[in-house]
Amino acid sequence: MPLFDVYPLYNVTPVSGKDIHVYDENGTEYLDLYGGHAVISIGHSHPNYVKAVTNQVSKLGFYSNAIQNPLQVELANKLETLSGCKDYELFLCNSGAEANENALKLASFKTGKSRVVAFKNGFHGRTSAAVAATDNPNIIAPINAQQKVTILELNDILGVKNELEKGDVCAVIIEFIQGVGGLDQATADFYEQVFALCKTNNTMFIADEVQSGYGRSGKFFAFQHYNVTPDIISIAKGMGNGFPVGGILIHPEIEAKHGMLGTTFGGNHLACAAGLAVLNTIEEEKLIDNVNEISAYFITKAKSIPQIKNIKGKGLMIGLEFDFEVGELRKKLIYDHHIFTGGASNKKLIRILPPLTIKKTHIDQFFDALKKVL
Ligand SMILES: Cc1ncc(COP(=O)(O)O)c(C=O)c1O
Repeated sequence: MPLFDVYPLYNVTPVSGKDIHVYDENGTEYLDLYGGHAVISIGHSHPNYVKAVTNQVSKLGFYSNAIQNPLQVELANKLETLSGCKDYELFLCNSGAEANENALKLASFKTGKSRVVAFKNGFHGRTSAAVAATDNPNIIAPINAQQKVTILELNDILGVKNELEKGDVCAVIIEFIQGVGGLDQATADFYEQVFALCKTNNTMFIADEVQSGYGRSGKFFAFQHYNVTPDIISIAKGMGNGFPVGGILIHPEIEAKHGMLGTTFGGNHLACAAGLAVLNTIEEEKLIDNVNEISAYFITKAKSIPQIKNIKGKGLMIGLEFDFEVGELRKKLIYDHHIFTGGASNKKLIRILPPLTIKKTHIDQFFDALKKVL
C-alpha cells in the first residue's frame, strides 16, 4: 500500500540519534538544528529518557483514563514547579492541535460564545477549530470553514477591541513567538492590552505554547516575557522529546465537570514517563540557562553575516531572514554540510530549533557551513 503523499521529503533516512545529532543508514552524522520541528528538547536518546520510557513500558505502557494514574499527578506537580504557573490545572492529550482544540472548546464552554479571534500567519494545528484559527486557506476544508474565526494583524489593538466588544468572541488564541509563520512577535504593549481586553469582555486568552514552550524561548513559557496571565496554555512538542503528548494548563476560573473533555490515549503511563524524564532533565541540566547562553552566542555570530537581513525570535527559536528564498540554501546545508534547519511560510527565512542541549561548537559548525554556502 503506498503512503498518502502529503509530505515533500528530503532524501535522508535517519535511523538513530544521539543528543544533537542524527545518523543515517550509512552512519553519516547530521547536525540537528531543526529538532524534528522543535520537538527534541533534551536531545535525541537522552539516557534519562531512554531509561524512563524503557522502565515504564516494561511495567505498564498504557491504561485508560478510567483508573488512578499517579504519574499524571507527578507530571502536573513537576510542571507547576518548573513553569512557575501556580494554581493551574492540567488536562493531558496527544498533540498540539488536540491541545488547541480542547483549549478552544473549553473557552466556548466557559463563555457560552463561539467566535474566535486569531492572527495573521498564526498556526494552531489541523483539527476542526484549531485549523479554522490558522491563517492558511490551503489547509482549511469546507467543513472547517464553518467555524466563526476572525483573523487580525499582529499589533492591531483597535481591531481586537472592536471584535471583542461585539460580545460574541469566546477566545483570543495567540503564539507569543510565531512558529510556522516565521518567528514574528507583537509588541509587549499589544500582548498586555489584548490580555486586558479579554478580561473586560469575558473572552478567554489562550497562549499557544506548543512550539515556544518548555524553555525554548529562554523562559519556561514565551508569554512569561510579558505581564499577562493566560486563561489556558497549550503545550505539546518539547514536552515528550518525541513521544506524542500534549496538554492544556487551565486556570481554575474554568471549572471542570466530569465528561467535559476526554481522550483514550492522553496522559497514558508511557507518555507521563517520557514527560517526567523531560522535565527532570530540563531541571537537572539547567537547560533554560543553556538556551539563553547559546542564544546570545548564536545571535552575535548571526549579526556578523552581512547576507542575514533580520534576526527574529527568542531563545532557541530563531529565524534568520535573507533577501532571497532559502530553499536551495537549506538543501546545500543538508546534502553538502549535513546540517538540518527548518523552513517557514516566510520563504526567505531559516528556522533554527535545535535540542536545548546544544553547545557553542555546534553553532560554530553551523556558521562555518553557512558562510561556505553563501
Ligand atoms: C504553535 C503551534 N501550535 C500547534 C501546532 C500543532 O501541533 P501538532 O502538529 O502536534 O498537532 C504546531 C505545530 O507545528 C505549532 O507550531
